[in-house]
Amino acid sequence: MAMPATIEWVEGKVRMLDQSRLPKEVVFLECQDYQSVARAIKDLKIRGAPAIGIAAAMGLALGAKSIRADSREDFQTKFLSICSVMAATRPTAVNLFWAIERMKRVVHDYAGDDFSWLQDRLIREAIDILQQDIEMNHAIGRFGADFIKNGNTVLTHCNAGALATGGHGTALGVIRTARDQGKRLNVLVDETRPVLQGARLTAWELVQDQIPVTLITDSMAGAFMKKGIIDLCIVGADRIAANGDTANKIGTYTLAVLSRHHKIPFYVAAPTSSIDFDLATGDKIPIEERNPEEVTHILGQTRIAPEGVGVANPAFDVTPAEYITAIVTEKGAFRPAEIIRLKGSAAKESSGKVKRKGGRSKNVSRV
Ligand code: MRU
Repeated sequence: MAMPATIEWVEGKVRMLDQSRLPKEVVFLECQDYQSVARAIKDLKIRGAPAIGIAAAMGLALGAKSIRADSREDFQTKFLSICSVMAATRPTAVNLFWAIERMKRVVHDYAGDDFSWLQDRLIREAIDILQQDIEMNHAIGRFGADFIKNGNTVLTHCNAGALATGGHGTALGVIRTARDQGKRLNVLVDETRPVLQGARLTAWELVQDQIPVTLITDSMAGAFMKKGIIDLCIVGADRIAANGDTANKIGTYTLAVLSRHHKIPFYVAAPTSSIDFDLATGDKIPIEERNPEEVTHILGQTRIAPEGVGVANPAFDVTPAEYITAIVTEKGAFRPAEIIRLKGSAAKESSGKVKRKGGRSKNVSRV
């Protein structure tokens, strides 16, 4: 089966693949109002930093469509209150706030009073965000595939695939592109406790695409590295600080430290919309603390821990830049300390389309 679209704008509704039901069932959720999009983001029905940003933009477009305003100020006030609901869904992935800011800018820059035109313009902006994300992922794939050699075994964590983005994926986009170039490769995927995005989502995606995949539990990674089985690690990102410190799914930091010990290159693949140039270092990245039930129960069903136990459930950790070999973006691959050079040209700042790049950009710094 070909990969279904993660999220689409279909006939005035937002249609998303319900990731909470995978791999058991492939079912779609149709959201007709912004509140149901916000709920879907909170409940991980759609997840992964870029996909969260796209969903938020489409949710805002739905919300804007329902606004009845008698003045420009009235429209803006109502739109900003919808933005606040969307911004309160998940705190870590900066793509959420990036997408909200982009939609806000459209409203802010509009000087007229044709609200019906503005509502359609916001739908077009949300669809552009989706299409540009897919283009960025293909560019990331082309730059990142240079790091994968024929016959390599690649370890990945969580899901940074088509499901976490508009399509193709970031870390899995690199893997897909390498495979499409004819490279033979094997992917080891951590199951990624507590909500098992590796076992449920990454394994499913790779099986759909017939890319060889071996599922391991999170605690097995070190032993496989010690045996010399893993050639490189590649993961996605939820937020990258200006110095290259990277927040990603809990457990990423452990893998990065293990990789350093075993001299295995450790790559982060992410669009520039995942870089937060306003944060100097990763220390200030807000880390989402999720429901303890994700830890005490398996998939919200079977209790595996005793009643009354204390639980910590941070959804993300921060990997210091010094552990990252390179950050692969749609503009090239950079040593972490060099991503600051992207400030001003990143997707965040440009309102124009991301240009497709056939080859390696001048910015690329080989590692
Ligand atoms: O909690 P999630 O599933 O939204 O976390 C997602 C991750 O941590 C991904 O690895 C990250 O967003 C990169 S997605 C391209």
